Parts: sequence; structure tokens; C-alpha cells
Amino acid sequence: MKVLSIFGTRPEAIKMAPLVRQLELTPTVHSLVCVTGQHRQMLDQVTALFDLRVDHDLDVMVPDQTLNGLFGRAVHRLDAVLAAESPDLVLVHGDTTTACAASIASFHRRIPVGHVEAGLRTGDLSQPFPEEMNRRVIDSMSQWLFAPTAQSAANLARESLSGRVYVTGNTVIDALAWTCDILAPGSQHSLVLENKYPWLEPQKRLILVTGHRRENFGSGFDNVCAALATLAKRDDVQIVYPVHLNPKVREIVMSRLSGLSSVRLIDPLAYLDFVWFMQRADIILTDSGGVQEEAPYLGKPVLVMREVTERPEAVQAGTVVLVGTDPDRICYEVSHLLDDAEHHAVFCRRINPYGDGKASVRIVSALLGEPVREFLPDQQRA
Ligand code: UD1
Ligand code: UDP
Repeated sequence: MKVLSIFGTRPEAIKMAPLVRQLELTPTVHSLVCVTGQHRQMLDQVTALFDLRVDHDLDVMVPDQTLNGLFGRAVHRLDAVLAAESPDLVLVHGDTTTACAASIASFHRRIPVGHVEAGLRTGDLSQPFPEEMNRRVIDSMSQWLFAPTAQSAANLARESLSGRVYVTGNTVIDALAWTCDILAPGSQHSLVLENKYPWLEPQKRLILVTGHRRENFGSGFDNVCAALATLAKRDDVQIVYPVHLNPKVREIVMSRLSGLSSVRLIDPLAYLDFVWFMQRADIILTDSGGVQEEAPYLGKPVLVMREVTERPEAVQAGTVVLVGTDPDRICYEVSHLLDDAEHHAVFCRRINPYGDGKASVRIVSALLGEPVREFLPDQQRA
């Protein structure tokens, strides 16, 4: 069976890496990888870390790309790969323009699609934008729908789709567990990282920040920067912010926050380094999807700078709070966690609603038509 995995951005690469590895270990599968290069540098950081062999690289990214320009380039170049390779099936991940373009290009060539991380919904097409629409389009044409959780499977069931649904857990936990093993205390990688960031101030509380969502461009990012500038006045905190390479994000973040002594603005971190920072953080402030899934596994409090989330499980479990982008609310919630140790401890419960590290194995079994024991989070296990 010839399986073509297509991805193009940082989070897709992180979440597809363990699955590609599992496909490569399967003797009856001929695994091929095509990257669109929607993210150039941030994608390359991940393929290098996971040592992924790339068979086709379409290099579609241009600076400050538009969604339509990107979509058009991706469909056009993917079509040539699909024609040349004629895979038996295509695997795509999540919510990106790459995944949406790849599923439509495959559909037009009557190639079946498997959607990894299917069924996430906010119910609002404007947030996350355009990811909610991308997900709905991909799910509508996929033959295999790999839902990470029971709630995402229930979302799919409500839509009466034609694909078969499997609850697999999220492959991000496969990738994270693998990375945590590499970073085990005393390992060579952890020793290297201990000395790599001499500007870290271990006596201060560490707030780790990421942000890139399009619906936060404009006033949302203005507000987030205002909140960070206020928090930076505390003498017991250090804020570390790896700034996404999107120029629209960098422009505002650099202009508002560079020069503040407690704020360290750095380039996007390689995944290994970012996981190391998450392990050290006292609080994570983010609008990222993947970080919302990883931080609860690491037992880290997460404040999510969004109004709604398509990942409600950790919010319901009480280790993630949606704080939106109102600066007063962000400052209040961060200060509450910093100043109330009991409150902080409640948020540090390590929970595991998103996966058990076996999602990739389940997905490959499903593709081979073998029986699949679906993912159940800890509290539901017998
Ligand atoms: C994209 C995805 C979003 C995903 C996010 C993960 C879409 C529509 N959006 O948003 O779903 O959550 O990636 O980070 O698919 N850039 C670089 N180098 C890089 C990456 C980006 O220079 O390695 C710059 C380029 O100028 C590029 C711009 O960032 O044009 C925007 O990248 P793009 O992929 O279009 O949007 P993201 O905001 O990254
Ligand atoms: N990440 C990383 N380096 C960074 C910031 C994030 O490797 O500097 C990882 C993070 O651990 C997560 C993924 O990138 O797995 C999330 O990517 P992003 O926030 O860009 O996208 P989203 O998850 O929102 O789609």
C-alpha cells in the first residue's frame, strides 16, 4: 500500500512525524512524504529533529503570503506529485491551508484521504480563522477520520459524514513523549540545554508566551502586548517569547516589547528546546492549538488567549483557562497563578485527555483494516 503523507507547517510536522515513523516500520506500507514548505524555516527545524526523509518538497512559501496565493500554489504543485506518485491514499493533518489544499487536490484525483486530528470544532467559522473552515472541508471528504478524543468523534457523528471515525488520541502526545524521553534528566540533550540559554534567570518565575492566530491580528495583539508590558514590571518574573515568523506578528510584538528588560524576545525554538522551556515554565500563555494539548500532559498551567477553543477537554478538566485578549483579564489570571500557590498547584495536576502515546499505532492499524482498540483517557479506563 502506497501512503503519501502531506504536510507543510511546524505543528503538522510535529504531529505527523511519529505517524510517518510508524508507517516506515510497517512492512506492507510504502511510505512517502511530501512537504509543501508552507512554513520554510519552522518546518525545516522539525524535519531535522525527527530525521524525516522528504520525498517531495514543493517550497510554496513566500514572505507575507496571502491565503489564496498559498492555496493556489499548493493545489497546483501538489497535483503534479499526486499524478506522478498515484498513491493508494493520502494522509493530511489538522487545519492548515496545506491540509485543505491537499485534501481537495486528492479528492479531484479520486485518491482517498485520511484526516489525522479530525473533528475539532468551535462552531464558529471566524475563529480560529481560517482553520475552522479548513477542518470542515477536510472532514467532509475524508474516508478515514482519526478523531483525537471522544468529543471530536461526537462532533463528527453530528455531521453525518461519509468517512469512518476512529478515536485514536492525538499524535502530538506520541511526539511529546518521544521528546521527553530524549530530555530525560542527565541525558546528553538536557545537559546541553542547561547551558544553552545563559540569560535565563532561574530565581525568577518563568512565563512562556506564544501567539500567532489571525483573528488576534490588530487589537488582539495590541492588548496582549499591553498585558505583557504590565506583567514585565514585576521584579519576580521573566517572560520568554519565541516570536512566530509571520511578519504581521513580528512587527507588532517587536515594536511593543523589545527593550523591556524582563522580556526576552527570541526566534522560534526548535521543538526539543521548546519542550525544555515548557518543562521549566511556571505559566504558559498562548493562542496555540498544540501547546494547549502538550501543557496539560506536562502538568503546566495554560492561559489561552482566545475566546473559544476547539480543544475543550483540558478546559473542562480545569488545567486550561480561556482568557481572551483583554489585558486586565490576562494580568489578573497570571497574577492569581503567580501569587496564590494553592491555586497554581490545582492547575499543575498532570492530566492526559489528548492521548496516550499510541495514536500512530492505532492509525496505521486502521489503515490496514486491523482491529483498533480506541483511545480512552485515564479517568475513563477500567
Ligand atoms: C499557519 C496556519 C495555522 C497554523 C500555523 C502554525 C494556515 C492558514 N495557517 O499560520 O493554521 O496554526 O501556521 O504556526 O494554514 N514565515 C516564515 N517562515 C516560516 C513560517 C512562516 O517566514 O517558517 C512567515 C512568512 O512570511 C509567511 C508568514 O509567516 O508568509 C505566514 O505563514 P502562514 O503559514 O501563511 O501563516 P501562519 O500564521 O504561520
Ligand atoms: N513550538 C515549537 N517552537 C516554538 C513554539 C512552539 O516547536 O518556538 C511547537 C509547540 O510545542 C507545538 C507547536 O509548535 O507543538 C505549535 O505550533 P503553533 O502554535 O505554531 O501552531 P498551532 O498548534 O496553533 O496550530
